[in-house]
Amino acid sequence: MGVSIKSIGVYVPSHVVTNEDLEKSIDTSDEWITTRTGIKKRHIAKDESIYDMAVKAGNMALKKAGLEEVDLIIVATLSPEMLFPAVACVVQQHIKSRFAFDISAACSGFLYGLDIAKSYIESSNVNSILLIGVEKLSSIVDWTDRSTCVLFGDGAGAAVITKGEGDILSSVMFSDGKYKDLLYAEKCSFLKMNGKEVFKYAVRNMEAACKMAIEKANVSIDEISLVIPHQANIRIINSLAQKLGIPNSKVYINIQEYANTSAASIPIAMYEAFEKGILKRKDKILLTAMGGGLTWGASVLEF
Ligand code: ACO
Repeated sequence: MGVSIKSIGVYVPSHVVTNEDLEKSIDTSDEWITTRTGIKKRHIAKDESIYDMAVKAGNMALKKAGLEEVDLIIVATLSPEMLFPAVACVVQQHIKSRFAFDISAACSGFLYGLDIAKSYIESSNVNSILLIGVEKLSSIVDWTDRSTCVLFGDGAGAAVITKGEGDILSSVMFSDGKYKDLLYAEKCSFLKMNGKEVFKYAVRNMEAACKMAIEKANVSIDEISLVIPHQANIRIINSLAQKLGIPNSKVYINIQEYANTSAASIPIAMYEAFEKGILKRKDKILLTAMGGGLTWGASVLEF
């Protein structure tokens, strides 16, 4: 038995902001946003708190797994409402667990969480984990700054992780604090990003991590049936696929619908791919992400 994703749940706010909507408030165009990023719209929380989104995604994943509680809740987020308590502890008011904590690894948070989950399940008395990636990025974005506000959206994705048929075959995680000023948000302030530099490191770092994860998992590139990358920019994703020699048809992309939802982007994409039958049980898949920190990594899973 491996450490397996038993089920996935999501929650995305119903309120949609299109590129055309943004044209009315800032000096931008649908054409610029689409060609530079691939984004057409983003879902923005109006009435939902970060806790609401996390609990809804978490409950959906639990229901699909046929569970009512878990041993541990891990929440990956960069946009918590409070410094403490952890989002995971507030989620614990609604979903029973023995303990709960947050991890801060920006867009790589869900991948870091998977790695932590595998270690807990293999080495301790933790048998079931609810891993939630959730972001309310609209609350830390400066809606007058066209260079960042067009890029981000809100949402949550959650996975129940237990011993099971599938496995996390490999995980490689990295960070380099030397680049902390490329992408950050100070306390009570807006998110700041040097997009050009982040772009450069994103392709380079994710390519290296993917190659390492594939080698560590002892699988060939051809055996990978689907790549689910963090959805930050379609040009980053396309150039990564090209460098890895993976056809675009094997790469799952939904950035056009949700924009960059940071730690939530990979579980939201996994959920959609599974629901559409593009991701199937036993498939070998590659997940990769890079975000503020800088943090980055890749994992190969037998789903
Ligand atoms: N609409 C119209 N024009 C714009 C906009 C906009 N929304 N934003 C910027 N521009 C202008 C700039 O002002 C600039 O104009 P100038 O040439 O007159 O100065 C021009 O467009 C080009 O701007 P660049 O910043 O050079 O555009 P670039 O091609 O680099 O694209 C982008 C910017 C989309 C941000 C890209 O650099 C990118 O995707 N970077 C990586 C983002 C990422 O991966 N983040 C990591 C994860 S996020 C996380 O961890 C939270």
